[in-house]
Amino acid sequence: MSFLKVSPKGEFVFETDKIASDKSISHRCAIFSLLSDKPSYIKNFLNAEDTLCTLNIAESLGAKVERNGDLLTILPPKELKEPAQILDCGNSGTAIRLLMGFLSSIDGFFVLHGDKYLASRPMKRVANPLREIGAIIDGRDGGELAPISIRGAKMEAFCYDSPIASAQVKSAMILAGLRAKGVSTLSEPTLSRDHTEKMLRGMGVDIKSEGTKVTLTPMDKPLKPLDITVPNDPSSGFFFAVAAAITPNSKVTLKNMLLNPTRVEAYKVLQKMGTKVEFIEKENIYDSMGDIVIEYAPLKGVIVEENIAWLIDELPALSIAFACADGKSIVKNAKELRVKESDRISSVVTNLQKCTLHVEEFEDGYEVTGGEFKSAKVDSYGDHRIAMSFAIAGLKAPMEVTDIECIETSFPNFVELISQIAKVDCED
Ligand code: S3P
Repeated sequence: MSFLKVSPKGEFVFETDKIASDKSISHRCAIFSLLSDKPSYIKNFLNAEDTLCTLNIAESLGAKVERNGDLLTILPPKELKEPAQILDCGNSGTAIRLLMGFLSSIDGFFVLHGDKYLASRPMKRVANPLREIGAIIDGRDGGELAPISIRGAKMEAFCYDSPIASAQVKSAMILAGLRAKGVSTLSEPTLSRDHTEKMLRGMGVDIKSEGTKVTLTPMDKPLKPLDITVPNDPSSGFFFAVAAAITPNSKVTLKNMLLNPTRVEAYKVLQKMGTKVEFIEKENIYDSMGDIVIEYAPLKGVIVEENIAWLIDELPALSIAFACADGKSIVKNAKELRVKESDRISSVVTNLQKCTLHVEEFEDGYEVTGGEFKSAKVDSYGDHRIAMSFAIAGLKAPMEVTDIECIETSFPNFVELISQIAKVDCED
């Protein structure tokens, strides 16, 4: 089993444009390019395990993929092909759930599967509403668990009130609705990340967003292809934001980052805790993009109970900042954390306790009392965000993180970057 040992090296000023490319947008590029009849051009696609799985699936469905340096060209097939093999989504909830929506209306038979972590994550949140509109989907435990099988069918238009704020559920329904018979609407309790809506609008779909409600007219012809430079991922960059926030006299500049408001909320929580954070927008084509500058200032505890969908991927890293703050921090209304790549409430609580911090666990969150990190050996639980969060804790006290292969799913050059601000020893 691989490990990563990180220990403090002292204050730093660190600037990088090498944060991993955005994972959510890269997945969507691979899938949405199949909705056009012309080549899509994608620069800065995320070359990590999760998104490469999605790209392989696009190829299994008949697309041709060409690489020329940083430029990826995806040539869609005239007609999508029924693949002979199982479509491997790896560790990715985004891949499997978006593809469930996408494939539901495609003529053919498809089987989606993934690794042991993905195979234990809930799928009925997507399977059930899709079945309601005509999808023929099955899987273990009545369609709750992968492998998931899909027999393409005709989709009915829908008016769906999603009980959870989930971009994966919303996107799966939108992708199914693109081939339905009439106009569909969908609403969610609070707005989840909105890349699907923005990218499809850019590709010519008549899709309107009003607060948490989306109205969608089905496509009557192939969509315009994508021509996009994927910005760097603010969820990946956030590990380095926390690094600056917990190390006195330190500053990090993250270049060419996605600045979409549904994705930078965690930086705003750091700001609320006392950290100096500046967003510098440089362009706005498919979405807002620019630099983020994060500078150390003493941290104070905070209560996090709103906009949870905008923080769901960053809460593990934010917990490291909570543990370095003066006073208590509380996370509430975050039950969704229990069904991510690991049960993130349990993973964060157990690992912080191993570092001798005082933490209390609730069904829908946790409370962390700021204190001193003690050197510890912690587990990633196979969850990339847990692995990288506790690697960052190594800036406070020597930390050994085991089972770190999962970092490859989203941020293959993480170890190279953290080596520039900490002492690192690694075996993989
Ligand atoms: C994602 C949506 C989020 C997030 C995941 C990526 C996406 O999940 O946790 O890492 O790209 O659509 P939700 O379905 O909970 O929004």
